Amino acid sequence: MPQSNETILEKRKKHLIASAVHYYKTPVQLVKAKGQYVYDQEGRTFLDCIGGIVCISAGHNHPKIKQKLLSMIENDEIQHTTLLFLNEHVTNLAEDLLKEAPNGIDRAFFTNSGSEANELAFMASRNATGETVVLNLRHSYHGGTAAALSSCGHHTWRFKGQPMASVTSAMEPYCYRCPFGKKPDSCSLECAKNIETTIQTSTHGKIAAFIAEPVMGVGGFIAPPKEYFHEAAKIVHNYGGKYISDEVQTGVGRCGGEYFLTKELGIDADVITMAKGLGNGAAIGAALMKTELSTPLTGKLFFNTFGGDPFQTAQAKVTLEIIREEKLIQNARTMGNYLMEGLKTLQRKHAWIGDVRGRGLMMGIELVKDPTTKEHATQECAEVMEIAKNKGILFGKGGLFGNVLRIAPPLSITKENCDEILKVLDESFFEAKSKMKV
Ligand SMILES: Cc1ncc(COP(=O)(O)O)c(C=O)c1O
Repeated sequence: MPQSNETILEKRKKHLIASAVHYYKTPVQLVKAKGQYVYDQEGRTFLDCIGGIVCISAGHNHPKIKQKLLSMIENDEIQHTTLLFLNEHVTNLAEDLLKEAPNGIDRAFFTNSGSEANELAFMASRNATGETVVLNLRHSYHGGTAAALSSCGHHTWRFKGQPMASVTSAMEPYCYRCPFGKKPDSCSLECAKNIETTIQTSTHGKIAAFIAEPVMGVGGFIAPPKEYFHEAAKIVHNYGGKYISDEVQTGVGRCGGEYFLTKELGIDADVITMAKGLGNGAAIGAALMKTELSTPLTGKLFFNTFGGDPFQTAQAKVTLEIIREEKLIQNARTMGNYLMEGLKTLQRKHAWIGDVRGRGLMMGIELVKDPTTKEHATQECAEVMEIAKNKGILFGKGGLFGNVLRIAPPLSITKENCDEILKVLDESFFEAKSKMKV
């Protein structure tokens, strides 16, 4: 029998660190999951449109993954070993994953998380170039470890005393709130050109790396046009830097075109980092890189005790197979397009919806108090989320001011699920509106 929410909340308060927050005024306890659904301790069903935080790609507890893990346990397969010994799971995953990667990306290393993957990407870039500065973007998020957090473009995620180790930030490619006051159809990619200005004005003229998410996840699913990335990569390479494409959220086909969005957008990346959906909930991350970054690591030891663990890599490999067999990338595209159309219709109905954006099944709805002033509608966003939860759908939230609803369901969602999402959102907007006027 699961414990009550009150007991868990009390224990969280007593034992967990103070930054451990939860979604919702009345939080949800999740105990079971299947496909695109999750269940609370009272047996209530929710359509999962956030998947932890963008981690469920193939669907919760997929039968093929269960079968694989159960058979490994039944066969007494080794649960833990490291790269110091040989084991087929890690190399099989590397081989399969690199088949999907853009040309030239041909080396892999597995970690336990996206943060660790980015740490390795920074280290390898600094090692290969002999430079130290990593350029990031305002509004970005790359993880909670020291170097990753020092590349974070959100004051809300930073702590006092957080060291800012050799980083500098360029302006955000955020079309809805363009920092240059431009519109996408008439701009000259000022945001990309700002990368050059930033290098020229806040470094000695060379950088180790530039890191960017092809869709900014924590930033509120900000999806810059592909031309931005082409211009960015050109500038980064001109200044001697390596391009790190952080696909921790966008990877594994979520964006509906290729397994890697970097490949779909034609970004000339030197490293791709990933995690989250890679293991469909298993704690696994990866840094994939070009030989020219891998070779200079020769002669030094780089080690991660649990990175490449047999169970995690086996789960990631099966996830990749499911994504292929069930054509989940195509489904992400079809369902994503369908949802996008529906969200645009909702936008015409609800003035709070300032912007709808994203790629595939990674969709953000930015809420504003007024479409002209674009004042962030933070409380309104929390209210819509709460009402939607009470109607059986879990959404995420993001953005610098917490005013962007995030939709990132498993890639297996159906048209019926999409209709339900649109219906619940429509009702939740109406109800939140009338509630917040009182
Ligand atoms: C784009 C991006 N990079 C890196 C990370 C860090 O990943 P992890 O939490 O697995 O360390 C995150 C986590 O949300 C992320 O969204």
